[in-house]
Amino acid sequence: MQDAFADQSASMDESLMVNIKEIDHQHQLLFNLIHLLEKSEQSSSNKDLTEGIVDALIDYSFTHFLTEERYMDRFEFPDADFHKKQHSRYRETVMDFKEKIKNGDDVSLDNVVVFLKRWWVNHIQINDMELGVFLNMAGAI
Ligand SMILES: [Fe+2]
Ligand SMILES: [Fe+2]
Repeated sequence: MQDAFADQSASMDESLMVNIKEIDHQHQLLFNLIHLLEKSEQSSSNKDLTEGIVDALIDYSFTHFLTEERYMDRFEFPDADFHKKQHSRYRETVMDFKEKIKNGDDVSLDNVVVFLKRWWVNHIQINDMELGVFLNMAGAI
């Protein structure tokens, strides 16, 4: 599953397209932010820059979840509760990362980046894909 993320240009692999324009666009932006975080980690030890990217990533992922959850509610997606729970769990995990980074705790950014890539690829390929298929069948594009 990691392979879907291998492209350093940050463009999304076909296997990550859920076929709902707004959602695919937001996923692309999220991946761009993850690549930025990865680069900032490799190129400098600038804590402010890293914190800024982490903040942007958190804000934008929350916006993205609201978008998906609005689609779920509007089209009465039957698996909404489970999917929303996945989003909440992610929220808790990244807020925990943020706190640790802010407090100067010994957080391995490497591990954060690995977690983010894995989480997004898995979540999109399994949960968001299921949502995309449902929404397409319900007439959303
Ligand atoms: Fe999702
Ligand atoms: Fe998503």
